[in-house]
Amino acid sequence: MDPPQAVHLGPRKKRPRHTGTSMASTPHDIRFRDLVLFILEKKMGTTRRAFLMELARRKGFRVENELSDSVTHIVAENNSGSDVLAWLQLQNIKASSELELLDVSWLTECLRAGKPVVMTGRHQLVVRRNSSSSPTPGPQDTLPPAVQKISEYACQRKTTLNNYNRVFTDAFDILAEDSEFRENEGSCLAFMRAAAVLKSLPFPIISMRDTEGIPCLGDKVKCVIEGIIEDGESSEVNTVLSDERYKSFKLFTSVFGVGLKTAEKWFRMGFRTLSKVESDKSLTFTRMQKAGFLYYEDLVSCVNRAEAEAISVLVKEAVAAFLPDASVTVTGGFRRGKMTGHDVDFLISSPEATEEEEQQLLHKVTDLWKQQGLLLYCDHIESTFEKFKLPSRKVDALDHFQKCFLILKLHHQRVDGDRSSQQDGKGWKAIRVDLVMCPYERRAFALLGWTGSRQFERDLRRYATHERKMMLDNHALYDKTKRVFLEAESEEDIFAHLGLEYIEPWERNA
Ligand code: CTP
Ligand code: MN
Ligand code: MN
Repeated sequence: MDPPQAVHLGPRKKRPRHTGTSMASTPHDIRFRDLVLFILEKKMGTTRRAFLMELARRKGFRVENELSDSVTHIVAENNSGSDVLAWLQLQNIKASSELELLDVSWLTECLRAGKPVVMTGRHQLVVRRNSSSSPTPGPQDTLPPAVQKISEYACQRKTTLNNYNRVFTDAFDILAEDSEFRENEGSCLAFMRAAAVLKSLPFPIISMRDTEGIPCLGDKVKCVIEGIIEDGESSEVNTVLSDERYKSFKLFTSVFGVGLKTAEKWFRMGFRTLSKVESDKSLTFTRMQKAGFLYYEDLVSCVNRAEAEAISVLVKEAVAAFLPDASVTVTGGFRRGKMTGHDVDFLISSPEATEEEEQQLLHKVTDLWKQQGLLLYCDHIESTFEKFKLPSRKVDALDHFQKCFLILKLHHQRVDGDRSSQQDGKGWKAIRVDLVMCPYERRAFALLGWTGSRQFERDLRRYATHERKMMLDNHALYDKTKRVFLEAESEEDIFAHLGLEYIEPWERNA
């Protein structure tokens, strides 16, 4: 038996597991008999451990020198839940669901209180789902990241723009794009989901162990992650980046109005540069593509926040001129807090407008800009919206609201503090703008649908279908079990109908 002050308890190999009681060899009375503590030395150090053990015993806690079956609470410092679980695994000990893994803050609070204090999520290193001893688990985001259960659905994760795993997500974005260009849907989806889940992690992946328990990471994906961890770059990605097809598709689809089909055609015809395409006499271009070539340089240089703000003023002024009560909301990437975007998206709705006024608004607005010489390109899509149409089953279905895809001329004097775009001498910049007009009672669905990100939207719909037997799209939410449309005044209402925790727009950057 160890003498009272013997605290040399460094990790020994193959320590036999004790059964029964290896009573703490201290002279102190035990006051709290249903708690048996063990303090982990790892990362805490011998001295501090000895100090805490002595103090706890003096306060009437039973503290074991060695880990035994009777231990009910393991206390650790500077260890995450997964650290402790890994340590237990090394000791060949299975962490039963009764065993509490706690941060040292719980012990210090107990010592201060002179008695055991209630364990909350703040203290618990691992959330025990059915644990009766943790009646008040704290908010999920205060828990150590590695042991939180990460959902396979982006709509159950918070994804801010604070991406700790850019090396990996950049790689998967490229691989997803390449799969898209090759029309390999399955692999495209797998890479997009991998990128999305990694964007949500509150910590960087440093070793393959960090990927344990993270959903959406299949073998192919893990292989790429491993490559990046080992070499700092991915050979798969390098192959893609130097691939003729990828390079050409990337270039061609960067032109407004050029989709996969056109890119494919030009690639097959042997084109590799935009100037060759543009000057070829045998090709015909759509009105959209012509605008795309005409304003190419402006459109490939991203829209910044100042420019988006200036466009927002322009849109609000024009809308107010015809429908003063209408609300104009920035959606898309800028609503999610992005600093740049490929366009600026707006949702417009009016509580008072008649159907006819509603239908005419976008036309009036674009006519005004045309008169002002600001309308560089305009494509109106009329509404095909029907009140009782069931939400679409397709994850990527287009919506039925009236909308217009525009290119607007933004004069530089409207933009403060942006010098870069003032140097080209023409005094303005072409900006892509999307306007959507929706019936007032559908504004929550339209707002949710147009805020994105695309991956977030896809997973919302997938979640609705597979987890709730509901159908969701940009217009409505339908409960298939109850056979009713569920109405919503706000995005919060829609999350609530779906039984989802509300995710703020800036947390939807999946
Ligand atoms: N969207 C849609 N129907 C369309 C186009 C877009 O529902 N016909 C939705 C998509 O869910 C997307 C959002 O509107 O997430 C915004 O679209 P887009 O402007 O393409 O993407 P952003 O996220 O704004 O990205 P960027 O910053 O590049 O513009
Ligand atoms: Mn956008
Ligand atoms: Mn858009």
